[in-house]
Amino acid sequence: AAPPCPPLSGQHRNSFAFTTITKRLPVILAKAVDDLTRTSYALGRDSATSSDDTVQAKREEAKQLLSQLGEIRYELQRDRKLKPIAADHDGDSEHWNRLLQTHFPDGTWLSTPWLVSECYMYRLVRGVFARSTHWRDHDPFARQKQEALQHSATTVNALVGRFHAILRDAATADDHMSATAFAELVNVSLWGNGTDLSLLPNLNAEQTASLQAAMTSEDAHHHTIANDLPALWELVAPLREARIDIILDNAGFELFCDLLLADWLVQSGRARVVHFHAKQIPWFVSDVIRADFDWTHRALRELECFTTLSHHDDLVAMLDRWQSHLSAGRWLLEADPFWTTPYAFWHLPSHAPSLWRALQQSSLCIYKGDLNYRKLVYDCMWRPDTPFHEAIGPLHTAPGAPPLVALRTCKADVVAGLAAGKAEALSLACPEWMVNGEYAVIQLSKP
Ligand code: F6P
Ligand code: MG
Repeated sequence: AAPPCPPLSGQHRNSFAFTTITKRLPVILAKAVDDLTRTSYALGRDSATSSDDTVQAKREEAKQLLSQLGEIRYELQRDRKLKPIAADHDGDSEHWNRLLQTHFPDGTWLSTPWLVSECYMYRLVRGVFARSTHWRDHDPFARQKQEALQHSATTVNALVGRFHAILRDAATADDHMSATAFAELVNVSLWGNGTDLSLLPNLNAEQTASLQAAMTSEDAHHHTIANDLPALWELVAPLREARIDIILDNAGFELFCDLLLADWLVQSGRARVVHFHAKQIPWFVSDVIRADFDWTHRALRELECFTTLSHHDDLVAMLDRWQSHLSAGRWLLEADPFWTTPYAFWHLPSHAPSLWRALQQSSLCIYKGDLNYRKLVYDCMWRPDTPFHEAIGPLHTAPGAPPLVALRTCKADVVAGLAAGKAEALSLACPEWMVNGEYAVIQLSKP
């Protein structure tokens, strides 16, 4: 189906789509090349168990993968036509190719809707690894995701200090305490989306700490330009033993923040079960895949940057509880293939019917981050004062649509649901407000 208004696209030279396709994506590819080079180089040193022959074969194959990654970059930088995706183990290449053939037969990187060409790049990269013999499970972004969490140790410590008792005792909190904890944790989860790798790929630990401090400060909350938090609390306060879904965005620090919120939902008795939705393949650099989820739990427990934190004992107590949520099925991690298609969520009911039926059981779906927001509102050029529920189309109007909330820091030039005149005022105050990650929205749809 066609988008309800013109799609964002790299054809517009002063758009963030153009900047992304011409400047950001080549850097992201270069970093994937760098990772594979380093991993391949380190092979002999790290893998005591592999024979020389295997190391040699892996290294040889890595050279071919590097040249394929280089080719993607070459075509992207010359704005070539989007070619069909070669078949691989992920099995959705035919689907992709039908979509390209039917809707964008002559589409190039810049002329195809931004959402499609950007998803296409991550799918191509996945294909390079999926078709290989030795590198099928390699995530070219894992190293960056892991470093980013380690750079966040100072903020992790501060958050554990702030929340460990609140979370432990959430079941006995009075209404006022519960409302305050919930509001704080929603803000932590929201602003956890502020520091992401595709936008800020080169932050060191010190820069990360100061950015995260700025993001979680009172001042940042004034940058929430549409704020349905009071209505969200009205919805969440009376819940008992409900199902809640979190459509995750980024690994590392953001995931840690989301787990704090999920812990409160369970500990306070609002949720019987929280379903986390991760990605099935490496996506948009920092998005959570299953391996990141598992790694995070281990890393927080074991890595020196965390074991030396002043609140590490409280962190371990928290991790033990999280482990018990997982083993008792109070926390479930899923990864539906729909989340890594190029489709806007307007297509969720028709293109992923079983996922949709599952979400219909939810008392609240929490959609994290910028890309999920773009997909909710079909990544097209809405007037910023279009009502949010209108911009999410079927996710508001379809029969049995569950309530949803978007927690998103703004990193793309699309937004809906602002008060009339707000966008104009923001443009005067800060011309970059739509894309610099310093402004955010909390937007609720309650069908
Ligand atoms: O590059 C496209 C984009 O959606 C940006 O707009 C944003 O910087 C990035 O990807 C990912 O953001 P998020 O992790 O919040 O979805
Ligand atoms: Mg992301």
